[in-house]
Amino acid sequence: MSAIEARGLTKIYRTYKKKPGLWGAVRGLFKREYEELRAADDVSFSIEEGECVGFLGPNGAGKTTVLKMLGGLLNPTSGEARVLGHVPWKREDALKRQFSLLMGQKNALWWDLPARESLELNRTIYGIADKEYRDVVENLTALLEVRDKLDVMVRELSLGERMKFELIAALLHAPKVLFLDEPTIGLDVTSQQKVRDFLKHYNRERKIVTMLTSHYMGDIEALCQRVIIIDHGRIFFDGPLSGIIERFASHKILGFTIAETAAPDLAPYGEIMPKVDAQHRIRVARPKVMEICREVMARFPVTDMSVQEPPIEDVIREFFGTAGKPGSVKE
Ligand SMILES: Nc1ncnc2c1ncn2[C@@H]1O[C@H](COP(=O)(O)OP(=O)(O)OP(=O)(O)O)[C@@H](O)[C@H]1O
Ligand SMILES: [Mg+2]
Repeated sequence: MSAIEARGLTKIYRTYKKKPGLWGAVRGLFKREYEELRAADDVSFSIEEGECVGFLGPNGAGKTTVLKMLGGLLNPTSGEARVLGHVPWKREDALKRQFSLLMGQKNALWWDLPARESLELNRTIYGIADKEYRDVVENLTALLEVRDKLDVMVRELSLGERMKFELIAALLHAPKVLFLDEPTIGLDVTSQQKVRDFLKHYNRERKIVTMLTSHYMGDIEALCQRVIIIDHGRIFFDGPLSGIIERFASHKILGFTIAETAAPDLAPYGEIMPKVDAQHRIRVARPKVMEICREVMARFPVTDMSVQEPPIEDVIREFFGTAGKPGSVKE
């Protein structure tokens, strides 16, 4: 049995469409018109023990909707899901104790309490034993470097500190499955890195099943080997992170070390990229790589060369920025 399974998971939001003006409102009393939006459309995947999967897609793609269904906050319109063998939206106690859903955009801590008391409340809710609780708080506050913030009111914490406590609260009961919806949103680079390192460490130690959304590719690259990409509610890629480059990158980066004092003019061969370690670099369309290599080497005294893949972040941006509606691709 997989840790997480989704089969044909579909969520249609119906929103009431109000006609403009007074007459629109009056007409609406008699005949309501609804707009339907397929936020998740026939979503299927399985995630195994110990996996950490990045869940990617542009704004409004349906990521949060899927996570909310898997976290039991939302009933699907149709389809099935199992988390550790349980149907999440039945909200059985046995499951509640085994997973956590953290939403970076929402606050789960008690705003007007010191962080410590907010955690205490979570302890009571989950019925965590005293010693276990103290050990976990000790350990996690040290790892995340917020021990000196335990007695600060949650609303007085910085965004980064608050997110760290959100994480601690989410991990208090040692869940086996973790859904993280943008855990690093709005954090500065240093805090982002801290949270990322922490999650990496935690994931390695605990082998906790994690599903993570983030608009920062750095998070995904640091934590996930596998990614699922969703757009308009439909999954169109599910496979290894490296597979994204193979499948979607239209360009490669060529680097040449050229033994010549005068600056070589590589502009006719490709788009000039910033130099790295005295290596001249150009961006070249994939099918032309061999041809361009040959031409450059024939024309300049090249002493070394490299062929590199573009950064995943660029590939994703390029893909969502220029492609039309994605076709259905599955690994
Ligand atoms: N409660 C709701 N009622 C109606 N429509 C909704 C509701 N929640 C979300 N939607 C719509 O469903 C679609 C998917 O939203 P969702 O929040 O799942 O996207 P997302 O991938 O998480 O986006 P983001 O990256 O911006 O967080 C969007 O078009 C959104 O406007
Ligand atoms: Mg979202």
